Amino acid sequence: MGFIEELQRRRTFGIISHPDAGKTTLTEKLLLFGGAIQEAGAVKSNKIKKSATSDFMEIERQRGISVATSVLAFNYQGKKINILDTPGHKDFAEDTYRTLTAVDSVIVVIDVAKGVEEQTEKLVEVCRMRNIPMIVFINKLDREGKDAFDLLDEVESKLNLSVTPLSFPIGMGYDFKGIYNIWESNAQLFSGEHKQTVADKEIYDTLDSPKLASRIGESALNQLKEELELVSGVYNPFDRKAYLAGEQQPVFFGSALNNFGVQELLDCFVTIAPNPLPKEADSRMVAPEEKDFSGFVFKIHANMDPKHRDRLAFVKIVSGTFERNKPYLHVRHGKKLKFSSPNAFFAEKKEIVDVSYPGDIVGLHDTGNFKIGDTLTQQEQLNFQGIPSFSPEHFRYINNADPMKAKQLNKGIDQLMDEGVAQLFTLHLNNRKVIGTVGALQFEVIQYRLLHEYGAQCSYENLNVHKACWVTCDDPEHSEFLDFKRVKQKFLANDKQGQLVFLADSAFSLQMSQQKYPAVQFYFTSELK
Ligand code: G4P
Repeated sequence: MGFIEELQRRRTFGIISHPDAGKTTLTEKLLLFGGAIQEAGAVKSNKIKKSATSDFMEIERQRGISVATSVLAFNYQGKKINILDTPGHKDFAEDTYRTLTAVDSVIVVIDVAKGVEEQTEKLVEVCRMRNIPMIVFINKLDREGKDAFDLLDEVESKLNLSVTPLSFPIGMGYDFKGIYNIWESNAQLFSGEHKQTVADKEIYDTLDSPKLASRIGESALNQLKEELELVSGVYNPFDRKAYLAGEQQPVFFGSALNNFGVQELLDCFVTIAPNPLPKEADSRMVAPEEKDFSGFVFKIHANMDPKHRDRLAFVKIVSGTFERNKPYLHVRHGKKLKFSSPNAFFAEKKEIVDVSYPGDIVGLHDTGNFKIGDTLTQQEQLNFQGIPSFSPEHFRYINNADPMKAKQLNKGIDQLMDEGVAQLFTLHLNNRKVIGTVGALQFEVIQYRLLHEYGAQCSYENLNVHKACWVTCDDPEHSEFLDFKRVKQKFLANDKQGQLVFLADSAFSLQMSQQKYPAVQFYFTSELK
């Protein structure tokens, strides 16, 4: 198979949802239908149980699992599917945002009873801003839930999407009988009594089948016909171009637990989902078809074994082929690196691979060269965009609690920051170090990992900061900028890259500063956009 065929058969995507909507179950069922695993229950859940949020061992266990499930790859109908795992826990939302920079499309899972939840809103907003193609899967149809049309309205209004159903439920909850597959124009029924165990289905190619009428009853059939008429009257027909442009989102209904509606979703997904897309770099757009290799680091995973300090850097290949033992330019360092054992991922295993294609993820063993957002190329000087740090919302001073281990502490903090666990700021006023995180759980993770991986101890001290934002001014000598820096000196810091950051102590003070100093620009991601 040639290079172009290889890249055209790649489908790299992420599944996003509010915790408990069924992301893990759906992932597992996709692997099952894809033939990548033989039985359900094989994919371990990487979610942090609610009861265990402060249990460090639980966090470590989760980290172990999340290495294994970071990328789940399998072949289906000639397509190579790469599912990128996204943590559901809100304290790890930044990991999820970063992973979304490496996907070419997403599937959004929604619980039929709970509808659109908070975390779904946030994640979909990120996808919408980047015009990522989305398919919506409404799950748990075996339970009593919201009316299908109400739910479609809710998805449109709360998530600001423009949906078109490609399947429609026949009944719901106790009366859930099956699905009308609008995409393939057929009705599919459960063929047994128990919705929890049935995997086989009956398929009817026409709604006029007398057997279908007798199976679901005349009135249910008439209702279905009316609903389908309403669907075609209210919603625009599926338009692949609009889907690929992020302007229309097809919706499927089903029950991941009962294997219902999952294969339909997968079959449609492999047909309509995009192969690797071009990506924006600072100097130009990079197309996947280009011969020269380029890629970027979107995730770094520390080794679980403290005796081996190496880490695994996850690189999404944007263009060209990545080959083992070939030198590539690490753009930030300006030096060439070779990788003798790049890992590729299959289902839950990883293996050394000689050649990888656009859309693929390779895991590179790293002894501290990489940080999130780094670009690798054949030789060109370019940096991929869109992998920013987000403005953290929790802040604490970090202190060394064991003066004999200052070196270990600094190294540990440095590496954890490169991994993207949190952000480090140095206050102008007194040079003290402040850790900023998106979720409160990260402070415990940092303390635990510093001790167990670096033998260093830290303590925290509270600090009253509302939000950090990056500040710049077109003219560094502008009187307003100088004035701002003088008045707010107490609240200024540098991030790890030396960029100026304003640690606003309240929403009010941030707002006042924005009004008072219009020549100063305030940004809420480190990419200054
Ligand atoms: P998440 O990754 O999005 O957090 O969700 P996960 O798949 O873990 O699913 C959350 C719960 O919802 C699980 O139950 C799971 O079995 C259940 N679930 C998933 N899909 C369906 C479905 O189609 N119908 C019904 N009725 N339930 C579904 P749990 O009791 O929390 O966990 P477990 O003990 O079953 O693993």
